[in-house]
Amino acid sequence: MAIQHFLTLRDLPTADLKMIVKRASELKVNPNLAKSQSRKTLGLIFEKSSTRTRVAFEVAMNQMGGSSVFLTTNSSQLGRGEPVADTARVLSRMADCLAIRTFEHSKLEDFAEYSKVPIINALSDTYHPCQLLADVQTFNEHRGDISGKTVVWVGDGNNMCQSYINAAAAFDFELRIACPDGFGPKPELLSKYSNRISIRKNPEEAVAGADLVVTDVWASMGQEQEQLKRVEKFINYQVTPELMSLAGPEALFMHCLPAHRGEEVTANLIDAPNSLVWEEAENRMHSQKALIEFLLA
Ligand code: CP
Ligand code: NVA
Repeated sequence: MAIQHFLTLRDLPTADLKMIVKRASELKVNPNLAKSQSRKTLGLIFEKSSTRTRVAFEVAMNQMGGSSVFLTTNSSQLGRGEPVADTARVLSRMADCLAIRTFEHSKLEDFAEYSKVPIINALSDTYHPCQLLADVQTFNEHRGDISGKTVVWVGDGNNMCQSYINAAAAFDFELRIACPDGFGPKPELLSKYSNRISIRKNPEEAVAGADLVVTDVWASMGQEQEQLKRVEKFINYQVTPELMSLAGPEALFMHCLPAHRGEEVTANLIDAPNSLVWEEAENRMHSQKALIEFLLA
């Protein structure tokens, strides 16, 4: 049987994604229900910084009775040029699953091609599917099924935005993307899902009637040198309590974090009652457990 990887949300049918999200909520209420991962090892290979994703995976494995091994590029032979294919062949003979955070999405695809165990995308320049499991879980827990709802992405058409596009298709919601010219998501993704995705120039108009408003940093990891230029371009795309007041009456706010308070979002919105960012972060761990259970079953 082919190995089931999780490089994008589209790798799994909707029924499986919904099952994972539901299971994450169950495990949150009753962690003892988690299937034992005793003697199982998750390898974590991170080429970029992380707080939530790393800790969510490590704590999840620990609580389920398994263990994890954390490697960075520089602390492993990858940093000295050992090819991805060789690394994948070697590590997948020892670990039961590998979660990888990297730059080029193609590197994850190379890992998957040569690995004998499931590969999880722990974030690439193109997608961050693990975060979407937690985001959908968080929304569902507060407002019921996200299907049929209106979600508005404000800001950069980055890896998170592109994962929201995949989520809109998988979980069946409308997605409006308010982004400056030249900072939109990949055109091929937009055209593939044009029935439920629209690009808006004006955030005020975009958020009208929204059930959920989401943003992320203006310069992602690897784009630090563009920070100043991006602040100028994105200045009208800050999410504020005033912008939220133009959304639907029960609209929620989410951000994958880390946030730049005072840039893409004001500090008073992060800390407002309609902001779910802390629970969204906690749900990373519950949804990581559900994903590991699913992939290692
Ligand atoms: N949201 C998220 O992936 O956070 P980290 O970069 O801290 O893992
Ligand atoms: N878009 C951000 C997400 C961080 C979790 C980045 O890639 O840096």
